[in-house]
Amino acid sequence: MTPQPRLEIRNITRCFNGRAVVDDVSLKVMPGQVTCLLGPSGCGKSTTLRIIAGVDMQDSGEIYIDGNLICDTVYRVPPERRSVGLMFQDFALFPHLSVAENVAFGLVGARAQKRARVEELLTRVDLIGYIDAFPHQLSGGEQQRVALARALAPRPRIMLMDEPFSGLDNRLRDEIRDDTLSVLKEEGAAVLLVTHEPDEAMRMADEIALMRGGRIVQQGAPYNLYNAPVDRAAAAFFSDINVINGKVHGLLTETPFGRFLTPAIPDGSDVDIIIRPQHIRIDLDRNGRGPSPTEENGVAARAHVHRARFMGNESLVEFRMEADGTVLKATVPAVFLPKPGTPMWLMIRRDRCFVFPSVQPT
Ligand SMILES: Nc1ncnc2c1ncn2[C@@H]1O[C@H](COP(=O)(O)OP(=O)(O)OP(=O)(O)O)[C@@H](O)[C@H]1O
Ligand SMILES: [Mg+2]
Repeated sequence: MTPQPRLEIRNITRCFNGRAVVDDVSLKVMPGQVTCLLGPSGCGKSTTLRIIAGVDMQDSGEIYIDGNLICDTVYRVPPERRSVGLMFQDFALFPHLSVAENVAFGLVGARAQKRARVEELLTRVDLIGYIDAFPHQLSGGEQQRVALARALAPRPRIMLMDEPFSGLDNRLRDEIRDDTLSVLKEEGAAVLLVTHEPDEAMRMADEIALMRGGRIVQQGAPYNLYNAPVDRAAAAFFSDINVINGKVHGLLTETPFGRFLTPAIPDGSDVDIIIRPQHIRIDLDRNGRGPSPTEENGVAARAHVHRARFMGNESLVEFRMEADGTVLKATVPAVFLPKPGTPMWLMIRRDRCFVFPSVQPT
């Protein structure tokens, strides 16, 4: 028997002024799992979350929690009875309440029980020492952790988080993300986290739902989206990409890197062969000769260094291809800064290429 999703939405559509901002979106989140709704600004992420929270209403589609219908276009469980915790970017703590009172805000029951839950959560987010402090005495990151404790206090079955870390500086954000993730996992809630940052989704998610123009275009484990993107835009969402253009002849496409088998694409079509900068291999020029072809890397192509920059963890080298003048980017771990004009040979890892019929990039 397949396990029951904690949260399931089916065919949710929401229109504003005749435009479907959320367009037939279906999604499942399992208990204890983090699903990231990832996509560019305006693609409908927050609208989807607001519908699940019950503060907005879909035009069609259904929402289920633990297999029970909680909302369709006729029947509707009110937001406060959905067992949903919310954490939004502009999470505000109540300034006139102490940390303990903020966390206890949504709790019902005996005083001692409430106190025990507050202490448990503040210990977990490492703020027990601030239990009687007021929000203005805390840093941004500490306030964020109190907000997390407050959202988790009533033991919601589902946590909906909308860009909750975007107000924090980079270093603090990484730390808070990791802390938040471990607290969420311990609590066992199903988490739907909205972000427009691929790094954040990669770091947090068990599963990513990639959204574009109101639709989910791909859903799966982070490594699946990274290693098997559905199209060029999905590939480009996670890193810089290089695009090598070609035209299909028979079952093959000819490129400066040798022939590619492209059997699924009609004869005569233009194709984009996509390779991420870290999957380009660089070799030295030996009196005009390069490395021999291999099955893994195909044929090497000669190129000249156009520009090289050190980026901290890696170096980014841009090459101009001798064959057609196009520029390809390669990243190399550590410091590698060859002089502009230096001839080198590039190879691309065949198992890391994605081949798609050409489309104009949007
Ligand atoms: N109440 C509303 N009335 C009219 N249009 C709306 C309303 N709410 C959202 N929209 C439109 O719906 C689209 C999607 O908005 P939404 O807030 O869901 O995007 P998002 O993916 O969360 O973007 P961001 O990453 O910028 O937060 C936008 O074009 C927005 O202008
Ligand atoms: Mg939004």
